[in-house]
Amino acid sequence: MKTIQIAIDGPASSGKSTVAKIIAKDFGYTYLDTGAMYRAATYMALKNQISPEEPSQLLELLEQYPISFGRSENGEQLVFVGDVDVTNPIRENEVTNAVSAFAAIPAVREKLVALQQEIAQQGGIVMDGRDIGTVVLPDAELKIFLVASVDERAERRYKENLERGISADLEVLKKEIADRDYKDSHRSVSPLRPADDSITFDTTGVSISDVVAFIEEKAKKILDK
Ligand code: DC
Repeated sequence: MKTIQIAIDGPASSGKSTVAKIIAKDFGYTYLDTGAMYRAATYMALKNQISPEEPSQLLELLEQYPISFGRSENGEQLVFVGDVDVTNPIRENEVTNAVSAFAAIPAVREKLVALQQEIAQQGGIVMDGRDIGTVVLPDAELKIFLVASVDERAERRYKENLERGISADLEVLKKEIADRDYKDSHRSVSPLRPADDSITFDTTGVSISDVVAFIEEKAKKILDK
């Protein structure tokens, strides 16, 4: 059966992972949350008091304790560092606020991109991140760039945090999101930007099911060709 690669990029909390997960399930494809990999690397760095200026020790740790994915009994994707489950800790504020600095390290990106490309070899895939359409899967048949206003994204993250039992302040979240957007789009390696052949979709005020329907329609057209 013909399968395709679907790349979904965009800034923090633009809805990428929510829609990517649904599309992967509907199509029977693998879903890969690349942000979780940068978060796992950041978690490891913070745990071992490694600064972004001295990444060599982090690279060694990534060799020793590889990042991998698993599935819980109820089908949720789990993230591991070595054999430690870091699914929940990588969502903590401490990691969220430090991740841009570690994601800007070229050697860290090189390592994680290679792993992402290896996972994509397995067949149909929906991958979300910041550089999927531009760097990781430049030949992806479908590239989507999701955007949404800072206010709406902060509100989404606020709700998500509350559901996860993580404390949140809406105004602080707005500032953090704007800050992370700036850092992710202004770094010298693989900055956040839409690929030339991507479709940009503004999800402000659009329901998850409508975003999913839009992307799935595009994907089906490609599959029917
Ligand atoms: O999608 P997220 O918020 O979980 O991503 C966490 C951070 O990882 C984000 O601030 C930027 C970085 N990231 C990246 O640089 N490249 C990717 N492909 C995915 C995430």
